[in-house]
Amino acid sequence: MTNAAADSRLFEPTRLGPLDLPNRLVMAPMTRNRATADGVPQAITATYYAQRATAGLIIAEASTPNAVGQTYPNITAIHNDAHVEGWRQVTGAVHAAGGRMFLQIQHGGRVGHPDTSGLMPVAPSPIPLPEPIHTPTGRQEAVVPREMTVDEIRSTVADFADAARRAVAAGFAGVEVHAANGYLLHQFLAKGTNHRTDGYGGSVAGRIRFTVEVVRAVAEAIGPERVGVRLAPGLTVNGIDEGDTAQLYPALVAALADIGPEYLHLVFADPEQQMFKDIRAAWPGTLIANPVLGWGGPLPADGGRQAAERLLAAGADLISLGRPFLANPDLVARLRTGAPLNALREEGLMYTQGENGYTDYPTLPATGTPAALRDAA
Ligand SMILES: Cc1cc2nc3c(=O)[nH]c(=O)nc-3n(C[C@H](O)[C@H](O)[C@H](O)COP(=O)(O)O)c2cc1C
Repeated sequence: MTNAAADSRLFEPTRLGPLDLPNRLVMAPMTRNRATADGVPQAITATYYAQRATAGLIIAEASTPNAVGQTYPNITAIHNDAHVEGWRQVTGAVHAAGGRMFLQIQHGGRVGHPDTSGLMPVAPSPIPLPEPIHTPTGRQEAVVPREMTVDEIRSTVADFADAARRAVAAGFAGVEVHAANGYLLHQFLAKGTNHRTDGYGGSVAGRIRFTVEVVRAVAEAIGPERVGVRLAPGLTVNGIDEGDTAQLYPALVAALADIGPEYLHLVFADPEQQMFKDIRAAWPGTLIANPVLGWGGPLPADGGRQAAERLLAAGADLISLGRPFLANPDLVARLRTGAPLNALREEGLMYTQGENGYTDYPTLPATGTPAALRDAA
């Protein structure tokens, strides 16, 4: 261990809304499909997150705010009392281990299937996902989603706000609105998926409206200091084609700044990109940056440490990492001390049931992870 490594700003305490964070490392939201078919998190999920409680902040996985918003089988949800009870076990275990948690709220829009949710997916326009989707019976062709009515848009805004209230009741310090990665809000933002001719489509002002209304409603429900928003400018996953990224995001970020949520969370942030620089300059609040770590390939040997330092130097306030936290419950201590990292085990274990590849990644004896948590793994 060198002093320079330990002295990085990454390991400095900071504040985020109602929280004191012991360091600037955030566990990025990761869907792990270990809930019941109805979206209730189980005891194993409490163990998984408690093992990772030394993260400055954990942003728990995408959770659906209503039944039709379900993306994949066995994802977590946050729209009824059983979900609140399930999540309360999780936040309780994380708090007992000294950690802090937000919950990500995600509506899948066209990324869904009737065999999964029992409902026909809804979207800004009846344009199907251009790729097969996971269902309880394996991968299937996507269906043509039903175009949302204005009444459905309004009730979905209310569902997000209600989900946020439930998340706080379940013990989360706040929520992250998921407007990235090709799910419902991103589908509204992008020209390729939003062909609407009413006030929720067409111009940039029309396409950002739904996201802005959701963030405003969520901020009014639980307080803006408990709200974050995840954005992925230019990302094309899930068949997204924004069309006018360079116009879209400045307008969206300005509208969000008027509402004043606590943070923006940029996916695949690149400090060299003009979009990153422009958003940093325009955003008055906390910026969480999620760096590019060789998506689809092996993780860098340094676990993202260099990418994190570059982003901090470029003005990011917090750094989120996904797969390094997945494979290393004690990631913060390992990065701080320069200790070797666990290898990420095969992709097939990311979205399956059970402990394998979930709660069985070892911690280092020297990292100070409570023995009870090590033994629970
Ligand atoms: C297993 C897995 C599940 C993911 N689930 C989500 C999710 O629920 N919500 C989300 O916004 N991003 C999700 N992501 C993306 C991560 O938050 C992150 O942006 C991505 O993994 C890149 O960061 P990394 O290189 O540090 O892993 C997921 C990624 C992985 C590997």
